[in-house]
Amino acid sequence: MSAGNVQVELGERVKAVRRRTLELCAGLTAEDMMVQSCPEASPAKWHLAHTAWFFDSFVLREFLPGYRAFNADFYWLFNSYYESFARFPEKRLRSSFSRPGLEEVVRYREHVDEALGRLLEQGAEPEALRRIELGLNHEEQHQELLLTDILNAFFTNPLRPVYCEGGALYSPLSDARPGVAGMASKGRDFVEFAGGMREMGHRGEGFCFDNELPRHRVWLEPFALAGRLVTCGEFAEFMADGGYRRAELWLSAGWDTVKSRGWRAPLYWTETDGSWSVFTLRGEMPMRWLAAAPVSHVSFYEADAYARWAGHRLATEFEWEAAAEGLKTDGNLLDSGRLMPCAAPDAGECAAQQLLGDCWEWTASAYLGYPGFKALPGTLGEYNGKFMSGQMVLRGGSCVTPAAHIRASYRNFFPPETRWQFSGIRLARQD
Ligand SMILES: [Fe+2]
Repeated sequence: MSAGNVQVELGERVKAVRRRTLELCAGLTAEDMMVQSCPEASPAKWHLAHTAWFFDSFVLREFLPGYRAFNADFYWLFNSYYESFARFPEKRLRSSFSRPGLEEVVRYREHVDEALGRLLEQGAEPEALRRIELGLNHEEQHQELLLTDILNAFFTNPLRPVYCEGGALYSPLSDARPGVAGMASKGRDFVEFAGGMREMGHRGEGFCFDNELPRHRVWLEPFALAGRLVTCGEFAEFMADGGYRRAELWLSAGWDTVKSRGWRAPLYWTETDGSWSVFTLRGEMPMRWLAAAPVSHVSFYEADAYARWAGHRLATEFEWEAAAEGLKTDGNLLDSGRLMPCAAPDAGECAAQQLLGDCWEWTASAYLGYPGFKALPGTLGEYNGKFMSGQMVLRGGSCVTPAAHIRASYRNFFPPETRWQFSGIRLARQD
């Protein structure tokens, strides 16, 4: 592809990704966009501003001659965690940013969009193009976070607002989702994988984050993965069997967390008069509708305890990657529009389903650098590398991950007690 075509194609992606962020906010009020309902979350308005800030700070300021900042205070105000770039406000205060107002934030985005267009028209140098690509991937991450955060915001609102209508489509009585009812009775088949020396990490020319490199060899013993994710119905059996009350099922830190936080069900599950319901982006649903859908919003500790109760274990991130390599990204991702994990389609027995999409899958692997890992140079080295302590790797993307964003080598990471993500469970075993 010629240099000019690369810039044109990137320009089109910039427009599409930036537009989609706004589209995800179309059904939100200005007040919705101010809510920060848990320590992990940020207000939607902050996501809008911070994704513009990324291009403003790391692309336009450095690479567009004559660029004028929209507002010099925004460089520190919308900085998330880049210590070597500027100071930044405490994360928990983001819901206090009533100023700048939403209109001004939208104008900030327009200012950045217009400048990005100008830079690409003039012909940007290779490093600027790499940063724009990184900025797009950053914005896709925040699209997912925006939805994750709105789900939490609406769950904590006593009115339980619905982000997207159409939940009835997902009931087992509907034809719109074949397989929703069918999977409930189906057994949990395992798919076997040969062991041996495998190469892991990103390969090829497309974009990847620094934490997906270098590609390196890993030895795998033969293993088997469950053909689908653990369902809500199966998780309910764990609960009914005293899963949350039996210390022997839990890691020590997990058991401490269960006790201190009073956990007795996944996040967003509510019990009323003995029956459970689950809050989703499509509103509150009776648990029986979702019996065959994957359980979501569980922590690593819950995933690990469930696996122990079931007599199995979680996969390592390398087992998972070996199983997912080469798969198409046509699963239940943001692009499907479903906005919630759905039952696995009734397909053949020989392939593992739901690897890409539905729920992020907790793995048994701690988030560490691969052998020879090098963070990006300069401030952007703070993007991933400095979090390589005390977190677990999740793989595969979720129903709110943009399809263009996920791949087999993609490594997400969160502390083990995290539940506000669309995070679920896949079992593994050694024969
Ligand atoms: Fe960010």
